[in-house]
Amino acid sequence: MLCCGRFFNCCGGRFKKVKPVVSAGPKLVSPQYQLKEPSREVNVLDQILKSQLEKNKQDFTILELAGGDGTNSIELARRGYKVIFTDRDYSYLPDKPENTFKKFQDSITYQQLNLSENISRQIITPVNAIFFRLGIHFFGNSRIEAMAKELFDTLKPGGVIIITAKSKKDPLYLQSEHIGDGMCKVNNYSRNFLDLGTFDEYFSKVGFLRQSYLETQEILYKDPYKSDLITLIYQKPADGQPVKT
Ligand SMILES: C[S@@+](CC[C@H](N)C(=O)[O-])C[C@H]1O[C@@H](n2cnc3c(N)ncnc32)[C@H](O)[C@@H]1O
Repeated sequence: MLCCGRFFNCCGGRFKKVKPVVSAGPKLVSPQYQLKEPSREVNVLDQILKSQLEKNKQDFTILELAGGDGTNSIELARRGYKVIFTDRDYSYLPDKPENTFKKFQDSITYQQLNLSENISRQIITPVNAIFFRLGIHFFGNSRIEAMAKELFDTLKPGGVIIITAKSKKDPLYLQSEHIGDGMCKVNNYSRNFLDLGTFDEYFSKVGFLRQSYLETQEILYKDPYKSDLITLIYQKPADGQPVKT
């Protein structure tokens, strides 16, 4: 398994197994599993989109990449957006996708999407925003460089992307062994720690405008330490043309 190998307890611990309950709370999507709190990036994206909104939220489509257990897609749909949930497989969903997203079937569509393959060819209609949290670190620099162009092509003019990655400021980065193409091996697990410079190199090069970035720390599921994360927000220019650098 490409993730951290802890089968369905990975994904930053976005859901945990709980005993079946009789009455469903607001975030309960199946009797066995309870979704955890949505990530802070949902608030960040919501704020940005609200400030841009000329249209109804339902006319705004957000694509989630490597969506894991669907918590963030569900929260974005709950806030009124149309969402396309994607992941390479549905093994992190608490249930079959049609059951997980049942309450939101008018707002969430789901699609298998493999980030190893061209993203813009897998998403035919361009979207208003992309939500991509903790998926890019599986890939080496050469794939990230190509992905930046595909993500640009997947957005409508003026569209926004929010991406969170493991940061080079993470203490694990210093202990890791460099194995080429930006990938590092630590604890038998390979990942790409990123920083502002690397992101800008690839994303600005294809024409994105950087809007802002955040550096945060978060305890990811079962980890005894806080991981250092970096979140970048880029925008495709409103005229759809890459910015000349
Ligand atoms: C660490 S989890 C992150 C889940 C969610 N975005 C979050 O922040 O909680 C990584 C996710 O990446 C997905 N993934 C790994 N390799 C992938 C690939 N090649 N294409 C698409 N998704 C992939 C896994 O299935 C898993 O759901």
